[in-house]
Amino acid sequence: MSMDTLLPEEYGADFVKRIRHGVFLTSKGEFVNSMWLNWGTIGYRWRRYCCTAFIRPSRYTAEILAAHPEFTISIPHDDRYQEWLHSCGTTSGRDGDKLAAHGIRTAPAQEVGVPIIAGEGFTHLECRLLQIAKTDPTSLHADIFDKFYREKGNIHDAYVAEIVAAYRT
Ligand SMILES: Cc1cc2nc3c(=O)[nH]c(=O)nc-3n(C[C@H](O)[C@H](O)[C@H](O)COP(=O)(O)O)c2cc1C
Repeated sequence: MSMDTLLPEEYGADFVKRIRHGVFLTSKGEFVNSMWLNWGTIGYRWRRYCCTAFIRPSRYTAEILAAHPEFTISIPHDDRYQEWLHSCGTTSGRDGDKLAAHGIRTAPAQEVGVPIIAGEGFTHLECRLLQIAKTDPTSLHADIFDKFYREKGNIHDAYVAEIVAAYRT
């Protein structure tokens, strides 16, 4: 098992390769909670490497992050954790501890108080929130607004966070 610190080009490649398939975004309020995320970016801003997660306001995760500004991203290298992802993407922490309910294991992180998803075959990013950018609906291209938000609203906000540690397990 390798816990070597990764360079931005290494964890950036892992993230871009797998984000469409889904990654775990884990946060911690009263208990540890994780959601399936498949909209996100990695980049450089404010002289820091940042991960931006796009999260709808209705998610329990949004409520947690407003009060506890840290999260981890656990990127599976292949499809072996699809069942866990499915559990995290179809149930809400609002209804109770889904990780305990589905036997999803976590392990302590190195730099933040929120754990990572436990297991082999992950790249992990430990993140400290720098900005929650509310999305102004009038700023969106009309095609995007029509396709994703006209009927349901609940527009994804941008959670911009500094990456303070990155490694593989
Ligand atoms: C394939 C898939 C991808 C998803 N991607 C996102 C996403 O990028 N952003 C988001 O806000 N919700 C996304 N979700 C929905 C959340 O994972 C889901 O609503 C989850 O239950 C939220 O958990 P929470 O209420 O405990 O935060 C996705 C769900 C699935 C099934």
